[in-house]
Amino acid sequence: MDLKEIIKKKRKEKISMLTAYDYQMAKILDEAGVDLILVGDSLAMVFQGMPDTKKVTMREMLYHTRAVVRGAKNTPVIGDMPIHSYDTPELAVKNAKKFLRVGAKGVKLEGNHPAVVRALKKQGIEVMGHLGLLPQTAKKYRVRGKMPEEARQILEDARQLDSLGVFAIVLECVPEKLAKKITASVKVPTIGIGAGKYCDGQVLVINDLLGMDKEFKAKHVKRYLNLNRSIKRAVKKFIEETRKGVFPTEAQTFH
Ligand code: KIV
Repeated sequence: MDLKEIIKKKRKEKISMLTAYDYQMAKILDEAGVDLILVGDSLAMVFQGMPDTKKVTMREMLYHTRAVVRGAKNTPVIGDMPIHSYDTPELAVKNAKKFLRVGAKGVKLEGNHPAVVRALKKQGIEVMGHLGLLPQTAKKYRVRGKMPEEARQILEDARQLDSLGVFAIVLECVPEKLAKKITASVKVPTIGIGAGKYCDGQVLVINDLLGMDKEFKAKHVKRYLNLNRSIKRAVKKFIEETRKGVFPTEAQTFH
């Protein structure tokens, strides 16, 4: 599927997007038929154990994007531009091209940066917007757009990004009513995370969907699995069998 087909899904079929940070996970998501894979800078938190996404580098993002692209045979991969990688239009173009060179089909960036988006589009680079809660610059993780002035600004930013030619807009942690209004006001699909059911699609961080971190709880996350528990059970079994000498058996032994 290419990004034009993603845009065409608006008002026809909901779009599914998930994050991935490595080859094997990307292969599973690809085989399962997800519409888009995002190499999110959330990898700073779930992969690197950092407190936020403020320190992840271009080099690290490219490393993970390269691995994900190898697994995502049929699914477009979007590279998340890390903080400061798009501080100027020139820098943004230079860095976005690096994502494309490792196989990404487009890039995502947080906030409304008209000059940057214009420069990227001029080079034929596909851009995904991201509004609402912007983790790269947020001092506090909270819902954005509850107050009329903030809501008005987010709607205006969405309209501007739409007119600048982004192919989709992520809406993170915004009230459902605002997300509905934005979704009805823009030509391109909105993809929500904590933005309610009226968005044109939904995105989750894969580790959250799988229940990898038992401490992490957020209202917008639905855990489809408790992989933390499953992994721990398997690992404990391995430890026990190793200690007792039950593993390896003949089946795992060479002669
Ligand atoms: O970094 C990320 O994973 C994201 C998604 C939550 C949209 O930006």
